[in-house]
Amino acid sequence: MSATADLVINNGTVVTADTAAPASIAIKDGKIVAVGAADAMPPARQTFDAKGLHVLPGAIDVHVHFREPGYTHKENWGTGTAAAACGGVTTVFEMPNVNPPTGTPEALKLKHELAAEKAFVDFGIYGLLAEDNINQLDKLVDGGVIGFKCFMGNTFGNLPSPSTGAMLEGFEIIARHGYRISLHAETASIIARREGRLKAAGRVDPLAHLAARPAVVAIEAVSRAAVLAEWTGARIHILHVSSADELRPLRDAKARGVDITAETCPHYLLLDSTDYARVGSVIRVNPPVREAFNKGPLWEALMDGTIDMIATDHAPHLPEEKVKDNMWAADCGFPGVEVQMPIMLTEVNAGRMTISDYVRRSATNPAKCWGLYPHKGVLQPGADADIVMVDLARDGEVDDTKLQSQSKITPWHRRKLKGLPLHTLVRGRFVMKDQVLVAAARGWGRSVHSAQRMQAPAPRHTDTTMAAIVVPPKS
Ligand code: DOR
Ligand code: ZN
Repeated sequence: MSATADLVINNGTVVTADTAAPASIAIKDGKIVAVGAADAMPPARQTFDAKGLHVLPGAIDVHVHFREPGYTHKENWGTGTAAAACGGVTTVFEMPNVNPPTGTPEALKLKHELAAEKAFVDFGIYGLLAEDNINQLDKLVDGGVIGFKCFMGNTFGNLPSPSTGAMLEGFEIIARHGYRISLHAETASIIARREGRLKAAGRVDPLAHLAARPAVVAIEAVSRAAVLAEWTGARIHILHVSSADELRPLRDAKARGVDITAETCPHYLLLDSTDYARVGSVIRVNPPVREAFNKGPLWEALMDGTIDMIATDHAPHLPEEKVKDNMWAADCGFPGVEVQMPIMLTEVNAGRMTISDYVRRSATNPAKCWGLYPHKGVLQPGADADIVMVDLARDGEVDDTKLQSQSKITPWHRRKLKGLPLHTLVRGRFVMKDQVLVAAARGWGRSVHSAQRMQAPAPRHTDTTMAAIVVPPKS
């Protein structure tokens, strides 16, 4: 090999979804050009010693809320992606429940501009699928989305959940493009009634939130979404799987051949209803953290592939918006993009999965499900040099006050960690070095939508049902 590399990382253990082995990595023009023995590397302008470290593909978090435009007192593209960089996350997919919601090409364009100006890491932007923007979906595709988000249940931003009829039309349109539709799969009408009854009964305690959203809200929503995906051929993704019971419709749909993927989040794997008393309203999140018996089945599903990946639902709010005596007054969600990796590496150290198992679920599978593989999600020649170097032996502790996020409040405060990300590179450039954000890398992040290559779409039944929309009525 003759061309000089920009950077060679030596002495680390390079991890893929299948293997972990000592190797060097050479990087040129933001891409990996070689992986192998140190003496097989090209000459380099710079070298970096990763002795004692594991070298992983940066995590791809397909579920974050960065609040800009509209709620920048909670977060913005700079602080949110700084949190990602310091959490070993090199690509994020950002959600449309901002103000204005990302449901028109104009709103999408504005968000692209804000993100490009401030982002430390690469990003994809979700378009909204709602009751009243069905005629905008094609235009959102043209404007550069990574996929679509549909809120079947209400949550922060209170975007009304679309009717099943609007969802069907949306699925039909999006199926023709092959994009994945991510679903907040909780059924709004069940929640509304249950919440109303609990409020009428005077319940304001933390566990009232869990009581308002029993697992049946997710079972019903996952099942219904899978029916619409099966009918239309649309690809779907179930966000934040929280219960053992919704795994049945998820497994059934996969067995029927529906292109359905799923994520869960660290808080569903590791927290449970006994934590409500400890952290109070801070734990309020949709879907709720559930009873302890759900955790074992969620881990099993994560390991057997029913759940494809780990995401965070990074949902920043200010402490004064989170800490309330009345649970219904607390905003839902908490930040996660910065703590996911150390929390899950702690579980790797505890023997719950291997480091390769983790890489498959944090990086490789998300890249595959959104058509970014092998461009991202793997360390091999030709891939983007999106790299995180972690020290699996390093002890730490979550400290909410030290988070990059503007939202310095989580249920993880003071949680013991073993396994920390130390250095993060996005397309060959350090965005975190020695656990410190590289301030000059602000604006380095780019939208990944143009690199996306989904498999060819396979729409079904759109010829019959879509006729009702596209054929003008005879007069
Ligand atoms: O608790 C939540 N908060 N769940 C969601 O799905 C959205 C999020 C938010 O945007 O705050
Ligand atoms: Zn979310």
